[in-house]
Amino acid sequence: WLSQLELYPELDSTNRYLLAQVKHGAKKGTVCLAEAQSAGRGRHGRLWVSPLSGNIYLSLLWCFSKGPRFLSGLSIAAGVGVLRALQDQGVTQVGLKWPNDVLWDDRKLGGILVELVPKEGGTGAVVGVGINVNMPIPYREQLVQPCTDLAEAAQNRSIDRNYLAGRLIHHFLLIMHSFERWGLRDCLDDWRRWDACYQREVYLYGDSKVISGIACGINEEGNLLLQEKEGISCYLCGEVSLRPV
Ligand code: BTN
Repeated sequence: WLSQLELYPELDSTNRYLLAQVKHGAKKGTVCLAEAQSAGRGRHGRLWVSPLSGNIYLSLLWCFSKGPRFLSGLSIAAGVGVLRALQDQGVTQVGLKWPNDVLWDDRKLGGILVELVPKEGGTGAVVGVGINVNMPIPYREQLVQPCTDLAEAAQNRSIDRNYLAGRLIHHFLLIMHSFERWGLRDCLDDWRRWDACYQREVYLYGDSKVISGIACGINEEGNLLLQEKEGISCYLCGEVSLRPV
């Protein structure tokens, strides 16, 4: 369960901070939040723009007795945890884009970055989530993907950022326990319910090529299923886009 909660006005990155704390004996269930990040990390080495404007930047440390190859579905599980927290806050019509973008109106509301580190007897996993609660326009213009924030998505309902952070922690902790025992078993139905790409044409960007197909959900390991001309293929990595870039 929650072993320590750390709050900072600013960190370079909540993920980097917790990864570094693993060496100093940080415990499973440590959560860290920052009001701003000077070097927020996104997927594929990108920067996660993290101004001091009332967003959420949160990371959780969990320790698994398994090796990294058993943890590939972890970011899918984390995405489901974020959607459950948003539902508790009354934010509906949100969706997930494989592997773990949180979307509203096909625009990015949040993202998840899972980083792994070897730890005695297993693997340490830092699960980081960034949610745009209030993202001022000038910052949105720095972003590659079209973006939105909860101020827009909640459509006049007020957002309680502390409550949302609490629900994120609650659902992340429950999901880590369940993932540890049963993998994605308890997440698959919710993922299918919230899959924003299901039965839509998507573009999968890999190292050197782009594959287009109809998204058919995920399998039990959390891999992407794409209907192509030749049949259904399964993909372990890549970046999905709803628009040809
Ligand atoms: C993405 O590229 O979509 C993933 C973004 C993840 C951002 C969060 S903010 C809190 C945590 N700390 C980081 O440096 N990154 C993650």
